Amino acid sequence: MRSVRQHVNPLGAQYLVARAARIEVPADAERVEVELGCADGKFSFELAALRPRDFVVGLEIREALVERNREWARRGGQANLAFGYVNINVDLDRVFAPASVDRFHVLFPDPWFKARHRKRRVVDPEMLEVVASQLRPGGELHVASDVFELALAAMAELEGPEADALGFRNLAGEWAFTRQNPCEATSRREDTTLARGQRVWRMRYGVRPR
Ligand SMILES: C[S@@+](CC[C@H](N)C(=O)[O-])C[C@H]1O[C@@H](n2cnc3c(N)ncnc32)[C@H](O)[C@@H]1O
Repeated sequence: MRSVRQHVNPLGAQYLVARAARIEVPADAERVEVELGCADGKFSFELAALRPRDFVVGLEIREALVERNREWARRGGQANLAFGYVNINVDLDRVFAPASVDRFHVLFPDPWFKARHRKRRVVDPEMLEVVASQLRPGGELHVASDVFELALAAMAELEGPEADALGFRNLAGEWAFTRQNPCEATSRREDTTLARGQRVWRMRYGVRPR
């Protein structure tokens, strides 16, 4: 197994070349759930185990983690679970067919807090365009963060005119956070956030048919 770097810079030259591979979704999958930036994949592993009729995909920029997660899924015999490489802001458009995903989960995505790192943030207008095109009508984008400023920045994108034109609407009402996790599964970062007694800033957006 390759060693795992703590962070990579998604704007580094090697990550700007589009190379993410298509993930084929089994025709008999009841729902398709996708975690973007899955790290060790805890959320994806749990969700796939809890919902054997759904197809769960974890995507991650750190390729050593992709390999490790694939190996664990293979050893665990989890056939409804796949992992793949993506740079969310570069080549997510290559991974899924249009209107093929039921829900994207963007959980605690950004290690970048500083204003000068704004360009590295995951939820941006181009990413939302790809997500909207890959969601099925009635599909959902679920975003959570433990950093209020980052959650608010993501919400500002999602409440803006461009996201509105793409069909996004806040399931909790305009500019509102959601308290409950819509899934039974939790990510590693959600667990550590809650264990420290900190807040999770969560939002859920449905996408209207265009
Ligand atoms: C703070 S971790 C959270 C991991 C997991 N979702 C959780 O909640 O425990 C953020 C993850 O997103 C990944 N990531 C950051 N930017 C990315 C990008 N542009 N494309 C794909 N993955 C990215 C990082 O490598 C990291 O594994």
